[in-house]
Amino acid sequence: PARSRSGAATSHEVAADRPTHGTPSRRDDVLAWVGRIADLAQPDRIVWVDGGDAQHELLVREMVSTGTLLPLNPELRPDSYLARSDPGDVARVESRTFICSPTRAEAGPTNNWRDPAEMRQTLAGLFDGAMRGRTLYVVPFSMGPVDSPLARFGIEITDSPYVVASMRIMTRSGAAALARIDDGAAWVPAVHSVGAPLGPDDVDVPWPCNPEKYIVHFPAEREIWSYGSGYGGNALLGKKCFALRIASVIARDEGWLAEHMLLVRVTSPEGRRTHVAAAFPSACGKTNLAMLRPTLPGWSVETLGDDIVWMAPREGDDGVTRLHAINPEAGFFGVAPGTGWESNPTAMETLRRGVIFTNVALTDDGDVWWEGQTSQPPAHLIDWQGRDWTPDAGRPAAHPNSRFTVSAAQCPTMAADWEDPAGVPLDAILFGGRRPSTVPLVTQADSWEAGVLLGASIASERTAAAEGTVGELRRDPFAMLPFTGYAVADYLAHWLEVGRGLGTGAPAIFGVNWFRKDDGGRFLWPGFGENTRVIAWIADRVAGTVGGRSTPIGHVPNPGDLDVTGLGLSEADLDELLDVDPVAWRAELTRAGAYLEELRAPAALRRALDVAIDRL
Ligand code: PEP
Ligand code: NA
Ligand code: MN
Repeated sequence: PARSRSGAATSHEVAADRPTHGTPSRRDDVLAWVGRIADLAQPDRIVWVDGGDAQHELLVREMVSTGTLLPLNPELRPDSYLARSDPGDVARVESRTFICSPTRAEAGPTNNWRDPAEMRQTLAGLFDGAMRGRTLYVVPFSMGPVDSPLARFGIEITDSPYVVASMRIMTRSGAAALARIDDGAAWVPAVHSVGAPLGPDDVDVPWPCNPEKYIVHFPAEREIWSYGSGYGGNALLGKKCFALRIASVIARDEGWLAEHMLLVRVTSPEGRRTHVAAAFPSACGKTNLAMLRPTLPGWSVETLGDDIVWMAPREGDDGVTRLHAINPEAGFFGVAPGTGWESNPTAMETLRRGVIFTNVALTDDGDVWWEGQTSQPPAHLIDWQGRDWTPDAGRPAAHPNSRFTVSAAQCPTMAADWEDPAGVPLDAILFGGRRPSTVPLVTQADSWEAGVLLGASIASERTAAAEGTVGELRRDPFAMLPFTGYAVADYLAHWLEVGRGLGTGAPAIFGVNWFRKDDGGRFLWPGFGENTRVIAWIADRVAGTVGGRSTPIGHVPNPGDLDVTGLGLSEADLDELLDVDPVAWRAELTRAGAYLEELRAPAALRRALDVAIDRL
């Protein structure tokens, strides 16, 4: 169909014969793209999403009527809803996630590579008529505060109203983002379909999806296509697909970093501020650390982000170049199970209203429950699949990967300036994992290279929640294994290069391990709020006000450097927590070296590793 070249498009010019609602873009390239996708996917209508209340309320009403959203009891959980997914669409599908760089080598050994031309053909087939009987929503969005120099823009086309409502919480979506795009900002096209077209006589299901799933990235073209899933990381394309996989490629080209990290501000009793980013594999308490309630008098921790950090070098007034960090997201898409008033009261406060829950259990009074919310489960529930549930059911009431989607602004520990377009100057980066032995409670890397080595060597013991043998180590460099949009060796080289550019302004890098056990399998460290004691040592190291002991793998606290007052920790336990055993570490670094070899890591990193082995 013919399209306006004037920029003054009207609805019928956007896509011939399709009713169009809302205010379209003024940009020809945007209109042409929406028109092309509509011609391919053949939706019944097109809606340009403005992010406002009126459109949102209409969308919610529609989802309630189709059963996609179940309203919760407004007296117990105002403005909140429960979605139950298809039982086969409950998590990210890493085996169906593809990086379609021009060559296989550019995707590296850790990604699923597909030939871009072949994949484009596959997608053309999958999306042909995929939105028949549905609405095509156009969702312009900003990752980062719209006025931030670090913000990047995208437009998601989706046929899922659940995705539209979730993107409204997780990103700055709608008119403000479209205005920036219309003013000429670069934008990433992201196409999503649940892959379940409706015939004229078909009745829709609450959670349409397709057993065949494709989560596809074209890093060179900065383009995303997602098919068959309605679930978070597969379908909210601003999050993992854009803010990590595509952004990591943009960041490499532009000299910054897009990372799978939380971001907090730590303030000492003297009022000294330390900004800390931290990467952990799943099941290591990342969300709890992002919302840490300090147990040390006078210390405070404010939340800036829980999952993704973008950081770019910028010269300060003092002539020092530092990394400045933003959280590109606007909400939390968190795991519900394990979140309770005991383990994470801040998260519980955040969830009081305005939440979309997915795959948690429903209580008899119209509220939600999940394993770990309370120590005693209610006597009766409706489980995540809509079935009656009692505590003797022999299966969890909530899916282990059930989630909450909630605005970050509702988090009581959110820093008042969390949306500051300038971001925060980063002082420290933490890398952690679940390690029952060998790895000390905390270690400060002696150089940027040694710190990058720490990040590259992140490994975590498998827990019962994940597939694989319990206790076995899963390697997860920078906790980015499923999220790096290009070859991991080049990613490591990029980290080294960013460090060289920062010089003295580079953040200090630390390794942490809350999970060390004694020979009897007992945790040596209490964890949770008591991690403040480690964070305090880290902040004081950055300030240069506390001691440490030099070891071949970096500096660890002397027993007296760590404030453990009132913990009842024995001297022997503390010694073991801070012990660096040369024999175990030689074995550890030899294994890490073999893994770096597999990744074809840069020679500089392997040299740093050899230096450490020699010192041992
Ligand atoms: C997701 O699955 O969408 C997600 C946010 O993943 P994770 O919690 O594993 O980072
Ligand atoms: Na997941
Ligand atoms: Mn994550």
